Amino acid sequence: MPQSKKRSKITLDFNNMMKNKIGAEGIGEADVAGLKPRIKAAIKNIKQKRDDGKLGFMYLPYDAKTKDDVKKVADIVKGKFENFIALGIGGSALGTIALSRALKHPFVNELAADRRKAPKLYVMDNVDPESAAGLLDIVDLKKSVINIITKSGSTAETIAFMKLLWSRLSKQVKKEKMKDHIIITTDREKGVLRKIAKQFGFISFIVPENVGGRFSVLTPVGLLPLASTGVDIDELLRGAAYMDNVIMSNDNVWKNPAYIRAVLHYLADVKFNKKITVMMPYANSLKDVADWFCQLWAESLGKKLSNTGKTVNVGLTPVKALGATDQHSQAQLYMEGPFDKVVTFIRVDKFRQNPVMPDNFSDEDSISYLSGHTFAELLNAEQKATEIALTKNKRANMTITLPEISEFTLGQLLYLLEVETAFIGELYNINAFDQPGVEMGKIATYAMMGRKGYREKLKDLQAGKDTAKFRI
Ligand code: PA5
Repeated sequence: MPQSKKRSKITLDFNNMMKNKIGAEGIGEADVAGLKPRIKAAIKNIKQKRDDGKLGFMYLPYDAKTKDDVKKVADIVKGKFENFIALGIGGSALGTIALSRALKHPFVNELAADRRKAPKLYVMDNVDPESAAGLLDIVDLKKSVINIITKSGSTAETIAFMKLLWSRLSKQVKKEKMKDHIIITTDREKGVLRKIAKQFGFISFIVPENVGGRFSVLTPVGLLPLASTGVDIDELLRGAAYMDNVIMSNDNVWKNPAYIRAVLHYLADVKFNKKITVMMPYANSLKDVADWFCQLWAESLGKKLSNTGKTVNVGLTPVKALGATDQHSQAQLYMEGPFDKVVTFIRVDKFRQNPVMPDNFSDEDSISYLSGHTFAELLNAEQKATEIALTKNKRANMTITLPEISEFTLGQLLYLLEVETAFIGELYNINAFDQPGVEMGKIATYAMMGRKGYREKLKDLQAGKDTAKFRI
C-alpha cells in the first residue's frame, strides 16, 4: 500500500464512552461482556445475510462492472455539459449531496469552469416551489444533463421535477435530442421510470433490488452524479472496500469500529436511556455527511415492530450539529442538559487549505494570541476543548478522526456508518432495511394529490376531527 494510503486510515476513539472516563454514565467492559451472546448472534446474522445476498450494500465496493459503466457515461457528460441536475430525494439524494460537499471546493459552482473542470452539480431533492422556479432562472437546460433517480420510480417529489424539466427541455431541444439530456437511475424492471427509459431509449442505470435507498450512495444513485462532477469514484470505492475488510476480518468487538460503535450506542440506550445520537463534524465540508447519517439512522432504526412482530417502538433520534458553529448554539444543552445523548465528533487532522492568522493587532492581548496560528489549529482546539468539557461533565462521546478529507477516507467513513447501522439493527432485533413509515407518508401524498387507486386510502389514514386549531 502506498505511503499516503497508510496515513489515510480513519481512527475511532471511544474512551469517553467508558466508565473509567465518565463514571456512572459510562459503559464498563463487563456490560459489553454481558452482551456477548447478542453480539455473537448479530455477527453471525450479518455474515449470513451478506452471504445470502440480502445486504446488497456490502457488495457495492467490489462492483467493478458498474463502476466502469458509470465512468464511461461520466466521461461523456464531463466533456459535453455545463450542468448536472440530479433529481431524487432521501436515499436517492443525500449521499450525493454529502459527498459532493465533502470532496469539492466549498464554492465549487462559483469557480471558473477551467478550475472546476467538471459540470456544476444541482441536486433537486425537495419540491420547494421557489427552488424549482429558481433553478430554471439559472441553468440553461440545453447545456444540462438531467439524472432522474428513484428506485421505486414513482416518488412524487422526483416525478414533479421530472415533469417540469421534461416539459421545459422539450420546448428547447428537438424530440430526437431529448435522450442526450436524460439519464435514468431506477429499479432493473419495476416502476414507470424503467418503462419510460425503455420507451425513449434513455441511458439508464440500475439500483439493485437488495440495496435500500439510504444504503445506495455507492450504486449509480451516487456514483454517477459524483463521477460526472469531478469525484474520484475509484478511490471512494477503495476506501469502502478497505473498511469492509477491516470490519469483516475482525470478530473481536473491541477491535471492530462498526461493531463497537453499535454496541456502545445500544448499551447507552438500554442502560442509561440515552436515546439521542448527535453527529458533530468539525468541518463545513462534512456537515451534509451528518445529514446523510441522520437519515440512515432515523429511517433504519426507528421501528414499531421487532423481527418477531412484537410492538417495540425503538429508535435513536439522530441530531446533526456542526463544530465550531454549534458550540455557540447547541453545546450548552449538551454540557448541562439531560444525560440523554451520545455525541460523535468527526475531526480532520489535515485540511486541504489552511490560512494562517496574520500577526496584526499585536498590542491587543485579548486577540493577538491568535496570531501565527492556523484556522485548522483553532478549529481542532475547539473540538478538543468541547470534548474535554463534555467528558468532564460526564457526557458520553466518541471521536472519529479523518487524517484528511479525501475520497478514500470518506469511503471508509460512510461504509463504517452503514455497517454500524445494520449491526445495531441486529442488536435491537429489528429490520433496519425497511421503511413502512415513509411508505405510509408516500401513500397519503398520493391520496391527497388524487393518484388513481389511492384516493380512498386517505380515509383510513386520517385520525379524528380537527378541534385544536385557531386563527392567531
Ligand atoms: O432510504 C429510503 O428508502 C428512502 O429514503 C428513499 O430513498 C426515498 O424515499 C426515495 O425513494 P425512491 O428512490 O424510490 O424515490
